[in-house]
Amino acid sequence: MAFTRAEAFAPASMGNVGIGFDILGLAFQEPGDIVEVELCDQPGAVMHSIEGDGGILPLDANKNTASVAANAYLRQIGAKQGVSIRLCKQLPLGSGMGSSAASAVAAVVATNALFGSPLSRQELLSACMEGEALVSGYHADNVAPCLLGGITLICGTEAAQIYQLPIPGNLHLALVTANVSVPTSQARAVLPTTIPLKAMVAQTAGVACLIDALYRGDVKQMAAAMELDGVVEPARTHLIPMLKEIRTAAKAAGALSVVISGAGPTLCAVCDDAEVAKEVAQVMELVYKQAQLACVARCTQVDREGAQVLSLHE
Ligand code: HSE
Repeated sequence: MAFTRAEAFAPASMGNVGIGFDILGLAFQEPGDIVEVELCDQPGAVMHSIEGDGGILPLDANKNTASVAANAYLRQIGAKQGVSIRLCKQLPLGSGMGSSAASAVAAVVATNALFGSPLSRQELLSACMEGEALVSGYHADNVAPCLLGGITLICGTEAAQIYQLPIPGNLHLALVTANVSVPTSQARAVLPTTIPLKAMVAQTAGVACLIDALYRGDVKQMAAAMELDGVVEPARTHLIPMLKEIRTAAKAAGALSVVISGAGPTLCAVCDDAEVAKEVAQVMELVYKQAQLACVARCTQVDREGAQVLSLHE
């Protein structure tokens, strides 16, 4: 069947999941980006319009993660026709919530639906990563959970090197995003290029503890392990407004731990109860408000499905 228009949603995500720098990712149920693609006779992908980005993102098809990813997909399937993309940004830019990945994934998932879904989810990974690489580097800790859902272990850039991890049932997350932009490239530039063996051992132990906790559905140990990062977080603390104050206030309100979401500035508090997560979100928001810092606070859970096709028209 030939389709003319398709629309897809791709969720926000958290790279690293605390201690798992570049190797763990987690999809949030909300918010997410929406992309609509329309079939065109000209080959390749073009950007028709973008809303919700405050005019910041480029309409140049070579510079937008959505069109770069859709173009990679079109090349992959050898499409003779192309797509025109309408991007509805609902994720804040440079926020550590996988904004660029969500646009790339939504574009590829919508385009795949438009062409009758010739490729599986796993086969869409490389095209999505080409889009993400444009702004964030060639790593899959946002793209993989965004595309596939859940909590993912990323051992390489091939789909076969990505593993779904168990999701504890009572995992509730409170997020707060201060109104400052932290580009991933800047947050990566401050990282050490080598670390002492002792630090490597501690990081490895922390990641192992986290994986063990997930397999046992133990949110308390999961939360504690996420916070054990002694390498990346210390190097980035100065980029994240009031990390220490937010952590203290969130824990006093019942959060089990607080970590930087991806490269920041979003902070993610791990809770084991929905009501506690709501309270923690309010408390974190208050800390920023009292410091005259605009922010958005949210509660969410892990998204299990990944990006979704919202509509498909003949
Ligand atoms: N893992 C990345 C980083 C963030 O911490 O730099 C996700 O792109």
